Amino acid sequence: MRIKVLSQRSRSLRLVVFVTLCIILLTASRLNGPSVPKAIFRVGKHHSHDAARNRPKLPPGQCSPDIEFLRRLELQLTENIVYTRRCIKPIRGKFDRDVLTNISHPLVRPDNRTTVNLTSCAHAALPPCEPLSLKVPMPYPQRQYKHLLFGVATNYERMQNSLESFAHWLAGTGAQLYGTIIDANQNKKLNLSALEELYRQEGIVATFRPPPVTAQPIPVEHHHFMLIRELLNISSDETKWLGIVDDDTFFPSLYDMDEELKRYDSRKPVWLGALSDDFDSVKLWGFMAFGGAGTFLSAPLARQIEPHAESCLSSAPAQTGDGILKHCIYTHTRTKLTVVDGLHQHDLRGDVSGLFESGVRPLSIHHWKSWYREPIPKMASVTAVCGDCFLQRWQFGNDTLFANGYSITFYPEGNGLRDIDLSRIEGTFRPQGNEYDFSYGPLRPALQPETQKKSYKLVDVDVTHFRQIYVHRKSDAWQADEGAMDEVIELVWEV
Ligand SMILES: *[C@@H]1O[C@H](CO)[C@@H](O)[C@H](O)[C@H]1NC(C)=O
Ligand SMILES: *[C@@H]1O[C@H](CO)[C@@H](O)[C@H](O)[C@H]1NC(C)=O
Ligand SMILES: *[C@@H]1O[C@H](CO)[C@@H](O)[C@H](O)[C@H]1NC(C)=O
Ligand SMILES: *[C@@H]1O[C@H](CO)[C@@H](O)[C@H](O)[C@H]1NC(C)=O
Ligand SMILES: *[C@@H]1O[C@H](CO)[C@@H](O)[C@H](O)[C@H]1NC(C)=O
Ligand SMILES: *[C@@H]1O[C@H](CO)[C@@H](O)[C@H](O)[C@H]1NC(C)=O
Repeated sequence: MRIKVLSQRSRSLRLVVFVTLCIILLTASRLNGPSVPKAIFRVGKHHSHDAARNRPKLPPGQCSPDIEFLRRLELQLTENIVYTRRCIKPIRGKFDRDVLTNISHPLVRPDNRTTVNLTSCAHAALPPCEPLSLKVPMPYPQRQYKHLLFGVATNYERMQNSLESFAHWLAGTGAQLYGTIIDANQNKKLNLSALEELYRQEGIVATFRPPPVTAQPIPVEHHHFMLIRELLNISSDETKWLGIVDDDTFFPSLYDMDEELKRYDSRKPVWLGALSDDFDSVKLWGFMAFGGAGTFLSAPLARQIEPHAESCLSSAPAQTGDGILKHCIYTHTRTKLTVVDGLHQHDLRGDVSGLFESGVRPLSIHHWKSWYREPIPKMASVTAVCGDCFLQRWQFGNDTLFANGYSITFYPEGNGLRDIDLSRIEGTFRPQGNEYDFSYGPLRPALQPETQKKSYKLVDVDVTHFRQIYVHRKSDAWQADEGAMDEVIELVWEV
């Protein structure tokens, strides 16, 4: 008996220590997480053609604009590259976007590759841009979303660096963004009007305010929760949904998100969100909307819990923004969480290619600049050309898979793709275990990137022509006769 009691106690002590560590880690990653270098995460039209970031300037006319784009040092290409391209003619229409389309001819031909020296721009004739017709969905309709109000709590610098990401899904939509800038009281030099102006120039209706002044400084996680009060304060009669997000919550399309929200009755108390995709996290934190996936409260639910905000803050056992929200909703209302398929907390680390090459159509994406790194806003920019075609898949011949916006992958071994079950997600990410069975399972085993899978991953997009730049890095070379240089495949979309 005693032993049992002791072991239970020590287990709950371990749990407390673990939870505390997690909170520290989560808070630290929200606050001090690697801030994103602007140049890498901003799309084409923002590119500074700053000489310092380029290779030596060449006389005008010596190098075609196509190659000048590749000469930018931020792409970190080797001096010589192997270059090829295809010109995509989108055939727009209504059809099942989730069906993997087979195309019998190859995507690119080995004899249509040219070596280019990026320092001198020396190259033989550039390969022809052979046309390729692909069936894609219609672009998203232009709509106004004045009934959506989003809230985020973060520091000034991270908000500045997140402009490209917020612009992708908010620009020109009429949806409102409210930001609590948590360091604005300590640092009076931070100019919140300038930050609002920066967002306004990108077409985002944004309001940034310092946190409410309190006797004791309160942790960022509390500000995250207190957003509910701030949002209600600036909401209007039109406001139906309050969306609480992290600064790295990304929606590929506000249209798709809104279509999902329409399925629920915003005149009633409704709480929408996603569990963690990692069941161990669900066991630890409970049945709740994990914050980074994006959480939506109907206005009536927000009004029910707002008067209890202070007591929820002081009584919540888990002091994270999403944990306090869970506690508050469960102790003051009869509303339960409705899990929305497609919202993603993305508690995954390392190589997430298995997920992005699986044909998924995520409503939200998270942790893409911390736990794993992918240029998500650039990847998703193709939605401007063909709507729901982001991550749509095509198979070429028997060995090539194209996951739009993410990668072009060659499977050289055995029967190529014929041996691979493309309906399953490849378990490339960490940790590997049963914790993903309930969210992504059954997984197929990861291939060896060195020998079984040769990937060209999207590194940049030139939005003026809509060119996607896919790169196979020299360091990832897997064949003896390769490894001397990076290889570039460019897909030029007719717009
Ligand atoms: C495409 O080919 C794969 C096998 O490589 C097959 O499983 C799939 O059913 C094919 N898709 C269509 C639409 O025919
Ligand atoms: C490109 O490939 C096609 C088909 O193999 C070939 O006919 C054509 O000559 C190639 N063009 C160049 C410039 O290599
Ligand atoms: C590329 O061109 C430059 C300038 O002509 C030359 O110095 C360099 O050796 C070339 N690089 C390679 C890898 O051939
Ligand atoms: C803050 O930014 C606004 C807009 O850019 C500007 O008009 C104002 O002068 C700035 N205020 C200070 C104190 O720098
Ligand atoms: C509500 O917003 C107004 C400005 O619109 C502001 O003056 C007031 O302090 C806010 N109240 C709260 C409780 O945040
Ligand atoms: C794949 O297709 C090509 C021609 O389209 C053929 O030459 C090759 O043998 C096929 N590979 C396998 C493994 O079936």
